[in-house]
Amino acid sequence: MPRKKNGSERPDLRAHFGLHVIPMTREIAVRDRWKHDIYEEVLADLKDTVAQRRSAAIIGPSGAGKSGILRSLADALPEARYRVHYVKVTDLSKRDFCREIAVALGSEPAGYYGALVRTIQQRCQSLLEQESLRPVILLDEAHDIRPDVLAILRVLTNFEMDSRLVVSVVLAGQSALRQLLRRDDLEAVARRIAHYASLRLLSRQETRHYVEHRLAIAGAKTDLFDSAAHDAVYEAAQGNLRAINRLALKSLEIAAAQRSKVVGADLVAAARLKVQP
Ligand SMILES: Nc1ncnc2c1ncn2[C@@H]1O[C@H](COP(=O)(O)OP(=O)(O)O)[C@@H](O)[C@H]1O
Ligand SMILES: [Mg+2]
Repeated sequence: MPRKKNGSERPDLRAHFGLHVIPMTREIAVRDRWKHDIYEEVLADLKDTVAQRRSAAIIGPSGAGKSGILRSLADALPEARYRVHYVKVTDLSKRDFCREIAVALGSEPAGYYGALVRTIQQRCQSLLEQESLRPVILLDEAHDIRPDVLAILRVLTNFEMDSRLVVSVVLAGQSALRQLLRRDDLEAVARRIAHYASLRLLSRQETRHYVEHRLAIAGAKTDLFDSAAHDAVYEAAQGNLRAINRLALKSLEIAAAQRSKVVGADLVAAARLKVQP
């Protein structure tokens, strides 16, 4: 049993609640995901868009499940047909982004910007001519990308007059991505986005179902939150999946520390004081 610094015993969450894994964690296996219509419809549309060699954007607030959708999409595209490359925008420079694109296309990511652009263009041309693995680039946190860097996506499209590309790009980002794609200097990129999907935060009832699902996949046989606790989670987290995870997990930890088998609203209130807003 893990010991706190002051020496008191902190019961293991799993043992206390009879779970086989720690619930409400950030990482979740694609097969364990909550298959709510909100996500499954977006996922089906994205799969269709990519199957048609087109590009898409997913727009939604932080904690709406965008990165989760990208992971599910990567999982759903058969390895025999697609080469999927996930890129998270941090501080991508033009050269970094070109390197990522080159890797996605299976090319050597060597050289400076100009050389990389030529490599990418040649590779696009040869991919067009031969039937092979279709590259898919998933660009997460795309609202944070610099406009001049995003504009590079144009080089993927130079040859094809048609809107179908050799490469499908799926951009995921917060609402600033929509504004970014409205800029005049990104018009050529925006024209390639054949499908826009949006994700929203959960309602009160959905929040409850989400928590119940996350507890059930961790092995809970009964609901570990009472009704008022579910409401309190919703009131605090406002449907943001990441905030729900943190608050629910902290509530369970406090319940376990107090040897309580069910989380009530008082424990959620106590947990709220201990998690970042
Ligand atoms: N479909 C889902 N089923 C179960 N948990 C999910 C699902 N989508 C997201 N999550 C959980 O919510 C957290 C936040 O979702 P994420 O996709 O990272 O949101 P965003 O990228 O929009 O900020 C994830 O770390 C994961 O634990
Ligand atoms: Mg994300």
